[in-house]
Amino acid sequence: MSSLRSRVRWGVQHGVVGLAIRRAARHGDLQARFVIDPQHRADPYPLYEQVRARGSLVPGRLGHLTVDHGVVTEVLRSDDFRAGPDEDAMPKVLGAVMRWARDPQALGPIDPPSLLVVEPPDHTKYRRLVSRVFTARAVEALRGRVQVIADELLDRLEGQPRAELVEAYCSQLPVTVITEILGVRPEDREKVLGFGRDGAPSLDVGLTWQEFRKVDDAVRGFQGWLGGHLDRLRSEPGDDLLSQLVRLEDEGQRLDDTELRAVAGLVLAAGFETTVNLLGSGIVLLLEHPDELARLREDPSLWANAVDEVLRYESPVQLTARFAVRDTELAGRRVSRGGLVVTMLGGANRDPHVFPDPSRFDVGRANSRDHLSFSGGRHFCLGAALARLEGEVGLRTLFDRFPDLSLAPGGRRTRTRVLRGWEHLPVSTGRVAVG
Ligand code: HEM
Repeated sequence: MSSLRSRVRWGVQHGVVGLAIRRAARHGDLQARFVIDPQHRADPYPLYEQVRARGSLVPGRLGHLTVDHGVVTEVLRSDDFRAGPDEDAMPKVLGAVMRWARDPQALGPIDPPSLLVVEPPDHTKYRRLVSRVFTARAVEALRGRVQVIADELLDRLEGQPRAELVEAYCSQLPVTVITEILGVRPEDREKVLGFGRDGAPSLDVGLTWQEFRKVDDAVRGFQGWLGGHLDRLRSEPGDDLLSQLVRLEDEGQRLDDTELRAVAGLVLAAGFETTVNLLGSGIVLLLEHPDELARLREDPSLWANAVDEVLRYESPVQLTARFAVRDTELAGRRVSRGGLVVTMLGGANRDPHVFPDPSRFDVGRANSRDHLSFSGGRHFCLGAALARLEGEVGLRTLFDRFPDLSLAPGGRRTRTRVLRGWEHLPVSTGRVAVG
């Protein structure tokens, strides 16, 4: 039964969508080309400019597209749009099939009740439970600990002339921080990283059955592990965020088991998957722009702004989407109830009306922080302050410690479309071999 369910889920979420995408691509649809063509995946920016040239909101065969900073902001903040599809607005049979195929043991980051796709009142309830741990003030208190973690990770690279930084540093720093916040045992970190790596394409559409199976196995593995982790916290609670959520069971604000796993799972996965990409892109951008790195060495007070410039220039989450909850108007065009608007965050971050000379990487840019890489409105990234802190401490410590760092051949970008970053980043550390 569960394999039939998986097949149906793949069919509805990816198979049919994949067919529609391929058909649309044959007709030159820009969104479909973005999904299909590996060239756009490697460098999506020329395609964003094609979208921009066609207007602030471009109708396509699958939905509307926008790279306009103003329109993206408006959609993300609007009550006329919701983050996940409205099953009540779908043809009845499709809605029923989707509900039947949903498997509580295989709920991914964009399946309800994930925070990313639910709306008030559930969204307000879940978000309130976790947000206090991630306020700017609470996060600033973690600065010392983030610094110690960064220092210890870099200690391990001393005496090594070469290193692979995604594995040794970019992924280890955020996963260590978020697992400490969530009370996960250090010995489980590698397992969590593996689930994250294999599950990352779950945000993409049009996966093949083989790709879907791999993602589905990772999501199931993660959910199974998380269930065990939450059980352990029930019997041995600590001071961490998840122990607090588990304790709510005694305080009458209970989340049911599916809700608890959805909230906990998203905070954990979102807490490292994206920051890995911020660090990887930051390292590459700064090594490719030595003048900008020199400005940071001269004036370290620019580091916080440099992190926002990295986020603007190479958005770790390239796009998100919204569905109209009623017939509405946007940028002078009609969007019908249920209609899809794809907000290309990476494109909006290069809007020349907001960011002069947008393709220039400029660590001193006055308004870098106006990027939309953390989305906007109700779903604005809950971990933005933590990501900025990890970006600042992580990049600055690395470049202070290894002033002669340089890129080595063999770097490889992530193959995902929504998440953009580096999967493999070999470098020369500038140190001589010890021993
Ligand atoms: C550079 C790092 C990060 C980036 C670029 C990023 C980006 C985003 C984006 C774009 C969204 C909203 C998606 C949408 O509107 O559809 C989001 C939501 C979210 N992020 Fe982050 N994120 C990062 C780091 C983190 C961290 C460290 C955490 C850890 C707590 C986190 C937790 C979340 C959560 C829980 C949500 C869902 C919020 C909601 O729907 O109300 N993120 N993030």
